[in-house]
Amino acid sequence: MAKGFYISKSLGILGILLGVAALCTIVALSVVYAQEKNRNAESFTEAPEIPVVSTTASATTVDQNLPWNQYRLPTSLIPDSYQVKLRPYFTPNKDGLYIFEGSSSVLFTCKEATNVIIIHSKKLNYTRKQEHMVVLRGVGDSQPPAIDRTELVERTEYLVVHLKGYLEVGHKYQMDTEFQGELADDLAGFYRSEYMDGNVKKVVATTQMQAADARKSFPCFDEPAMKARFSITLIHPKDYVALSNMLPKGGSVPLEGEPDWSITEFQTTPKMSTYLLAYIVSEFTKVETQSPNNVLIRIWARPSAIDEGHGDYALNVTGPILNFFAGHYDTPYPLEKSGESGVLKREAVGTAPHRGHPTNRLSSADQIGLPDFNAGAMENWGLVTYRENSLLFDPLSSSSTNKERVVTVIAHELAHQWFGNLVTVEWWNDLWLNEGFASYVEYLGADYAEPTWNLKDLIVLNDVYRVMAVDALASSHPLSTPAEEINTPSQISELFDAISYSKGASVLRMLSSFLTENLFKKGLASYLHTFEYQNTVYQDLWRHLQEAVDNQSEVNLPDRVSNIMDRWILQMGFPVITVDTSKGEISQEHFLLDPESNVTRPSQFDYLWIVPITSIRNGVEQDIYWLKSVQKDQHEQFRTSSDNEWVLLNLNVTGYYLVNYDESNWKKIQTQLQTNLSAIPVINRAQVIHDSFNLASAGRIPVTLALDNTLFLIQETEYMPWEAALSSLNYFKLMFDRFEVYGPMKNYLKKQVSPLFDYYRNLTNFWTQRPPTLMEQYNEVNAISTACANGIEECETMVTNLFKEWMKNPAINPIHPNLRSTVYCNAISQGGEEEWEFAWQQFRNATLVNEADKLRAALACTNEVWLLNRYLSYTLNPDYIRKQDAVSTITSITNNVIGQTLVWDFVRSNWKKLFEDYGGGSFSFSNLIQAVTRRFSTEYELQQLEKFKMENMDTGFGSGTRALEQALEKTKANIKWVKENKETVLKWFTERSQ
Ligand SMILES: *[C@@H]1O[C@H](CO)[C@@H](O)[C@H](O)[C@H]1NC(C)=O
Ligand SMILES: *[C@@H]1O[C@H](CO)[C@@H](O)[C@H](O)[C@H]1NC(C)=O
Ligand SMILES: [Zn+2]
Repeated sequence: MAKGFYISKSLGILGILLGVAALCTIVALSVVYAQEKNRNAESFTEAPEIPVVSTTASATTVDQNLPWNQYRLPTSLIPDSYQVKLRPYFTPNKDGLYIFEGSSSVLFTCKEATNVIIIHSKKLNYTRKQEHMVVLRGVGDSQPPAIDRTELVERTEYLVVHLKGYLEVGHKYQMDTEFQGELADDLAGFYRSEYMDGNVKKVVATTQMQAADARKSFPCFDEPAMKARFSITLIHPKDYVALSNMLPKGGSVPLEGEPDWSITEFQTTPKMSTYLLAYIVSEFTKVETQSPNNVLIRIWARPSAIDEGHGDYALNVTGPILNFFAGHYDTPYPLEKSGESGVLKREAVGTAPHRGHPTNRLSSADQIGLPDFNAGAMENWGLVTYRENSLLFDPLSSSSTNKERVVTVIAHELAHQWFGNLVTVEWWNDLWLNEGFASYVEYLGADYAEPTWNLKDLIVLNDVYRVMAVDALASSHPLSTPAEEINTPSQISELFDAISYSKGASVLRMLSSFLTENLFKKGLASYLHTFEYQNTVYQDLWRHLQEAVDNQSEVNLPDRVSNIMDRWILQMGFPVITVDTSKGEISQEHFLLDPESNVTRPSQFDYLWIVPITSIRNGVEQDIYWLKSVQKDQHEQFRTSSDNEWVLLNLNVTGYYLVNYDESNWKKIQTQLQTNLSAIPVINRAQVIHDSFNLASAGRIPVTLALDNTLFLIQETEYMPWEAALSSLNYFKLMFDRFEVYGPMKNYLKKQVSPLFDYYRNLTNFWTQRPPTLMEQYNEVNAISTACANGIEECETMVTNLFKEWMKNPAINPIHPNLRSTVYCNAISQGGEEEWEFAWQQFRNATLVNEADKLRAALACTNEVWLLNRYLSYTLNPDYIRKQDAVSTITSITNNVIGQTLVWDFVRSNWKKLFEDYGGGSFSFSNLIQAVTRRFSTEYELQQLEKFKMENMDTGFGSGTRALEQALEKTKANIKWVKENKETVLKWFTERSQ
């Protein structure tokens, strides 16, 4: 799956506030992580299972020794193939339910004698009228024992068939079932998505199986290692299109006796895991093309979106990305199958026919944008599903950020077609390898499709720094979890977190970097060739990489790949590397943002790492140095003697660690940055800011040293350093925007951003063109939002005029999509009722969700208290703001310094009502509490918060319970931070804002 939690830059100035902003705070970070975990918990629709600690202590009477009471399947029966036929209905039945009907035959082999068949089944009603729910047959000359009884075990989601005798080892059997299930709107299993086509409501029947919901569609051995071949047949209204992982065998044929229905039979899949199955019935249309090596590429979506060309960008980039990965993995697109054997013919990529099959036999890469979809996207083999905003791109109203999201999500999902789908991890505990890998190579694939965008650099901001913020907390956890600790669906769903995705990506990128990409690719290809259509554990990848290392002599490692990597994946967190350049001393220590926190999780490696240290010295790249698993070491490489000699570690931040120096080296880096910043690579200019603000938060360096690291920005035009600075300084804004520090802070930022604003004004010919590169386009937005927010008049005039022009002629929006978020927000902020009402009308009329979202966020930027208060009341009126958008709208309002107080008053006086009206739904009380308390930093606010907790104990806080506790803790930490730093920070900004 693609992460559902991409940081969106589409909200412009608000994006900055909401983005990686929390990096420099101490406790705010724990909320970020908790939120992510909550989101995963929320996306799981079942009540969380309470793990049973021991059979005797359990309050339930469940006998844990019985195999059907255990969450993991026994290994006695192994599936070979399934024949599945499904018929979804597009109108409700007489009970008002949308349902699907199905039948399934599974062929399996007995590996250990057993008198019970245990197969996953969830929320399915079995409909055979005969004595038993199932029919069991022998295959060949095997005679199956008689069925004793069948039962459904809800807790472990099994259909259990008790037999009167034993199945025999080595024999094959077939089990047939008929069933029906609800085609619910629950975004899981076989489900229903709806959209409006003009005034007509349309229904789509679609699937989301990962992690454990294939069992909700038909009975199956629903574990990733239980690979089998699937023959899917769909019965559907004749005017609808039926899609599945494979292409249809022939055309659709009419269903006998029911002329309005058709039947579509798909080719049998190669051996694959159940969680990668997909089938979709819809009235969607497509654009298509055929790649040179016979892959049919199709983009499906609502007909109006396809008509307007919104699928064209995805279509344009898919072919190049598929080609890139086929080369990168040295393996052709896996669904280019070769008849019966399910074995790839590598030597015959798209050329020779296999075993007499016709040469024109196609494989397919279908991608589809769905109106309702839970994750960001899902890599189903050959039929990838997306949220609309992750696949569709409208050149007229989507921004560069929207475009970047489309190309990176596509690259992520296509990367899985090999890594994950062709070769699959044995069990969910290794999810980090699957998702971390795709989250790393998505940058390589997207970079290939958009070579001028420098996308590869963005991994540092979007993954490395994002996850460091949570991995630096005492409450973090290691990447790898023992298989036996992951059993229930809710335990599985908790693994889909930032650690798995972004830390996984960060450490794999580090590995690829110290091995060199070439060597990494060699080991990778050998791993994929060895394990195609099979399952692996992460050690298998290490072994193949080790072989690649052993077969050459250029790259020398200090230890085996597995020994180096174990320290990064089996212990949580990461080190801070400290260099004392006067002695050439280098040391490592586990980095914790809150130095007072206690790490209770022991590590077999004592929180020491084997660290690849790259460095530059006076602008010249040095040889790699390995800091082995010791606290302290010494090397001439890190000693400087003369006054202007400096060293800088972690070139391009390929290493997953922070770096600290003695004060004199910091000062020399600052001097270098202020005199000639190009001697330091752009990613490292971001690193200097990022690392120092984190070190200051942890009390390792003075806050003034971190602030000094922003002085060079007056000469900086690049995106990454600015983004790192704005993220880091956002905490300062939150703490001080209601106090006297804010004036001098604004003056300082105004001074720093002025040259940047001028630079982009000139580059864009007075904002009439967009700059050529993506990074420049992003930084143009930073320039405008920072300039307008800190009082550069020319900026204020520019946005106001643009907005006025639009108001004069609403039919033609003259504001470029990239600039809309920030222009809307600033124009509404400087304007009054008229501007607000205009934007409100535009919001009400907007047909594109991207556009509506930008307006909805910008409406919260007004400085008129009464407008803001009225807007706040609108958020609870579903006729105005859809329920799913209520919390994010309230969050936008709290980002406005005026709105913060309004929302807090509102929440305090309406808690009971809010809770009663929204308690059951998707309303995220944790996000609400987090947003409204972010600025809390005074004793008075702490008292108010405690009072709020006392007064509403009876009502309760629901999903906001943990957020409330964290808010209390965070407020205390903020009070302390402000107390310790306010005077210093005020003095620093005052002195530098003249
Ligand atoms: C399954 O059976 C239960 C109990 O009879 C019923 O409430 C439910 O509606 C049925 N579901 C479907 C999809 O038929
Ligand atoms: C897709 O590619 C075609 C042909 O190169 C080009 O004309 C078109 O502008 C592209 N569309 C998008 C949305 O990038
Ligand atoms: Zn993924």
